Amino acid sequence: MSQRTVTLKFSDSDRTIELPIMEGTLGPDVIDTRSLSSQGILTYDPGFLSTASCSSNITFIDGDEGLLYYRGYPIEQLAEHSDFMEVSYLLMHGELPTAEQKVKFVDTVRHHTLLHDLMGSFFRGFRRDAHPMAVMVGTVGAMSAFYRDSSDPFDAKQREVAAYRLLAKVPTIAAWSYKYNLGEPFMYPQNRFDYASNFLYMMFATPSEDYQPNPVLARALDRIFVLHADHEQNASSSTVRVAGSSGANPFACVAGGIASLWGPLHGGANEATLTMLEQIGDASRIGEYIRRAKDKTDSFRLMGFGHRVYKNMDPRAAIMRQTCHDVLNELGLHDDPLFKLALKLEKIALEDEYFVDKKLYPNVDFYSGIVMRAMGIPNSMFTAIFALARTAGWVAQWMEMVASPEQRIARPRQLYTGSIRRDFLPMDQRG
Ligand code: CMC
Repeated sequence: MSQRTVTLKFSDSDRTIELPIMEGTLGPDVIDTRSLSSQGILTYDPGFLSTASCSSNITFIDGDEGLLYYRGYPIEQLAEHSDFMEVSYLLMHGELPTAEQKVKFVDTVRHHTLLHDLMGSFFRGFRRDAHPMAVMVGTVGAMSAFYRDSSDPFDAKQREVAAYRLLAKVPTIAAWSYKYNLGEPFMYPQNRFDYASNFLYMMFATPSEDYQPNPVLARALDRIFVLHADHEQNASSSTVRVAGSSGANPFACVAGGIASLWGPLHGGANEATLTMLEQIGDASRIGEYIRRAKDKTDSFRLMGFGHRVYKNMDPRAAIMRQTCHDVLNELGLHDDPLFKLALKLEKIALEDEYFVDKKLYPNVDFYSGIVMRAMGIPNSMFTAIFALARTAGWVAQWMEMVASPEQRIARPRQLYTGSIRRDFLPMDQRG
């Protein structure tokens, strides 16, 4: 079949430009506009509403149908039958591991979990009340200084070691950022535990008492990791790719991803959801907050609702909703006032005309915050846990980007709306 094209026709002249249409294996066709700049034309798309910034074979989302696949596997199947280590392998290598590959992968990650001893002193430079995400941006960026032998993005072996180091050490950094807040001693990773149990251990154990991670909570946490592991070209993954496109080292790129994730419109929404629920305080005030969310003159938004791509239920939210009910039941928390309030808000928003018309469904952050809160995880750690899980996706996206022959430095252009040329005015002629 001959190449399909689209023709751009200018309304004020006979000029036309023919552009090739690219087809993926799934999802919308993409118009290849790369040749436009050499013809003196640019495309305009702030916020990237209609822009495919790269080609990728890692993750697929169909926002209308509410589908999410990692390497072709539906998220529902992975959440039910797989675990975070297997999913990380899948994201990085493209295929599910064999039994032997999995053992080797898990073992390698395990043996990279310790931080360079001097990194402990690095933590001590922060204020005690520093937000864990602030500590993570700083300390993950600082890995560039501690692990210089795996910071060359153009060396395949160094890339691989960096990937293992990030996957293994980010949980240690996240847990230690919490311990630092509490003023408790840092707990060293324990190789006898699985990934999620080890994280719970580093967060909640102390040297003075025996601590055994609860397997039900570890399984629920592992599921949270699986659901958050990757999500196509979202703000933080795009940040990692843009940073990496200049040849920056992987630790600096992932620190950039963490910074981008922190915002309340992205990963920070899980913490913002709980802050909002605490502000609402009582079911009698839900109406007031729903009214504020609909009011165009009020900047308030219902946190944990809406998504750029999903105009149907976010499949991660559907799974997380179930996990949320399971965990609340398991812990006997269904009658907790905050959780009752959350479930009431969910019900009202799902039926409200404004939210229904705009297709604003509860997203994954709405339920994950509630689940983590029920598990005894403090609000300030929610986004840090999202970052820990998304590290798998960031690393996979970064590796794909670095290896792609199509990749060039990311350099968007602009529609300039400033002053036209004018001459410099000496001070006495201004104003
Ligand atoms: N509450 C009230 N109104 C909303 C909300 C909300 N949560 N979300 C979107 N809207 C309205 C918005 O005012 C706009 O209305 P109109 O067309 O009349 O101007 C319309 O819906 C479309 O919104 P938008 O801001 O143009 O959509 P977007 O794709 O740029 O933003 C979003 C997507 C997720 C940033 C947004 O829905 C939002 O701010 N949600 C709350 C924050 C949140 O929960 N973020 C987590 C997203 S999921 C996990 C992740 O990505 O990390």
